[in-house]
Amino acid sequence: MYLLFLALLALPSGQAASPGHSWGYSGSKGEESWPKNYEFCGGVYQSPVDFHQNILQYDSTLQPIKLSGYNVSSTDSFTLSNNGHTVQMSLVPTMKIEIEPFHYTASQLHLHWGQKSTPKGSEHCIEGKRFAGEVHVVHYNSDKYADLSTAMKESDGLAVLGILIEVGSFNPTFEKIISQIQNIRFKNQKIQIAGFGVRELLPERLDEYYRYEGSLTTPPCYPSVLWTVFRNPVIISEEQLIALETALYCTDSNSSEPVEMTNNYRQLQSHGERLVSVSFREGLVLTIALACLLAVLVIMAFTCLLIRTKRSSRKPSDNRNVAYTVAAGVEENTSKV
Ligand SMILES: *[C@@H]1O[C@H](CO)[C@@H](O)[C@H](O)[C@H]1NC(C)=O
Ligand SMILES: *[C@@H]1O[C@H](CO)[C@@H](O)[C@H](O)[C@H]1NC(C)=O
Ligand SMILES: [Zn+2]
Repeated sequence: MYLLFLALLALPSGQAASPGHSWGYSGSKGEESWPKNYEFCGGVYQSPVDFHQNILQYDSTLQPIKLSGYNVSSTDSFTLSNNGHTVQMSLVPTMKIEIEPFHYTASQLHLHWGQKSTPKGSEHCIEGKRFAGEVHVVHYNSDKYADLSTAMKESDGLAVLGILIEVGSFNPTFEKIISQIQNIRFKNQKIQIAGFGVRELLPERLDEYYRYEGSLTTPPCYPSVLWTVFRNPVIISEEQLIALETALYCTDSNSSEPVEMTNNYRQLQSHGERLVSVSFREGLVLTIALACLLAVLVIMAFTCLLIRTKRSSRKPSDNRNVAYTVAAGVEENTSKV
């Protein structure tokens, strides 16, 4: 009995000694099973989240994101790789961002996407809307920590920029990545590509964004990320999106059961007690105003309906009186706005 107990204990710890449990986005290794091997995935401060009205708060102190070294020379190079979960581009340590009070050094960027038949694969959503895809530019707090792997376990360790992707016109900067993915279709394949201006992968406006404290969206899900998700998406063409959705595999080139790399996004996580700060106000105010207007219109419509119903059940001689009531009702509702 005792021996059996020991044997049962030995099994999981033996597995834990291996470099990492495999995980995916569907099937038995899908995200429901992540917390079994990665406890933080079942914990608090998880990402992604939906950005919706009642958890947003305007913060006038949020400054535009300050980039430095983002215009990488073509004499430098990036390594583009298929890591079995996404396509990842290693960045150079001269690329940095500043979010007061810390400087963060860039480490890598990678993408999340859906599938050709359901081309919606962003991780963060806005008012419940999922975008076509999302880019994450991962940085670590280099004022406090020596490298990414140390920083990722600390609550103030990482800063990730999230860029939503929408379909529209051809994007020549994204093409520098997308034109190369045919060369890294299988897990563990990699190639070198020439440096370029990574700023061009970001939206025009760096002053409008959502900011909150969350986590890595993949195992081990450490709650160490200061998230900045830009309000405006970047645009790529439908052909470019389809190339991303169809070229890659999670499995290596030998695999007898190839798994397509699609829908590599995590489900929305509960925001719990968290609020999301927003750096912009116009648009938010407009949305609230529109919601109020809609509410007033609905109330007015009901009032009218109610009065009509009453009116039709009254004698014609009461008409003048009723008309006065309608006007008074409208006035009262309007003054509440
Ligand atoms: C980026 O650097 C290249 C030369 O390496 C230069 O021609 C270009 O103007 C720079 N772009 C920006 C936005 O600074
Ligand atoms: C393909 O399979 C062989 C034999 O199992 C293995 O030695 C080799 O490393 C595999 N190649 C790749 C790219 O995984
Ligand atoms: Zn990501």
